[in-house]
Amino acid sequence: MTSIAEAWRAASQRIDRLDARLLVESVAGCTHADLIAHPTRLLSADLLARLDALVKRRASGEPLAYVLRSAAFYGLEFMVTPAVLIPRPETELLVELAMEKVRLLSAPRIVDLGTGSGVVAVTLKLLLPEAMITAVDVSPGALDVARVNARGHTADVRLLLGDWYSPLGDERFDLIVANPPYVSDDDPHLRQNGLPFEPQMALTDGVVGGDGLACIRLIAGGAASHLLPGGWMLIEHGYDQAAAVRDLLHAEGLREVTSWADLSRVERVSGGCLR
Ligand SMILES: C[S@@+](CC[C@H](N)C(=O)[O-])C[C@H]1O[C@@H](n2cnc3c(N)ncnc32)[C@H](O)[C@@H]1O
Repeated sequence: MTSIAEAWRAASQRIDRLDARLLVESVAGCTHADLIAHPTRLLSADLLARLDALVKRRASGEPLAYVLRSAAFYGLEFMVTPAVLIPRPETELLVELAMEKVRLLSAPRIVDLGTGSGVVAVTLKLLLPEAMITAVDVSPGALDVARVNARGHTADVRLLLGDWYSPLGDERFDLIVANPPYVSDDDPHLRQNGLPFEPQMALTDGVVGGDGLACIRLIAGGAASHLLPGGWMLIEHGYDQAAAVRDLLHAEGLREVTSWADLSRVERVSGGCLR
């Protein structure tokens, strides 16, 4: 038998100290306060073996969120598995802008294209309980995770499997939001910082040697046929893609085309309105 404090100390020699603490807390089912207040609490051999397996995964470079099966977004906890992208803090800007664009509507119709774990759709439903929210993803595994998250947060979100607009027929929306894959298939960043553990279809548009905008072109191309008059489209994109995305939105006839910067002052979301 080993105490939780000893287990934390031992794990900290193999991985980052904070990560080690979070893994010990997860395995022991305790909080940080418990760990400090009751450091001599013992971990059974089973729990120690489970901790060892999780520490090994983290030490191999697997992102902490996958090891914990949990990630925070907009102050909420969401389940994440390797079937979905780990939600990024930058995407909270998409949620903020979405709220602003529909604030005058009593029951806005919103669709989240490429919902992944469902963080954007579920968060919007919690913030806008009257909204009718649809979430689309082409990955059945991602939709399974989004379903768990919607149920877990008691958020009534319609989940549809399919390729961008195809499951939507000719439906129109007050707001289309998307955080699509926007990295070229041969981008060297895909081999760094835990990205190899994430689903490649969530990261790359699948085109080698391209500009990463293949999915964004398809999404922008559906604006006129899927937005209601006055409706907005908001798309998250790469740090260097804002001007190109604005051009695509202009080319689709959208007005008030704008890009917004994230907290790092990087233009991260662009959008426009159908007038
Ligand atoms: C960058 S992830 C975004 C996930 C989530 N919305 C978020 O912000 O954390 C892109 C998502 O688009 C989905 N996707 C990729 N190709 C798609 C397609 N052709 N149609 C619908 N969804 C697609 C991927 O499965 C992935 O879940």
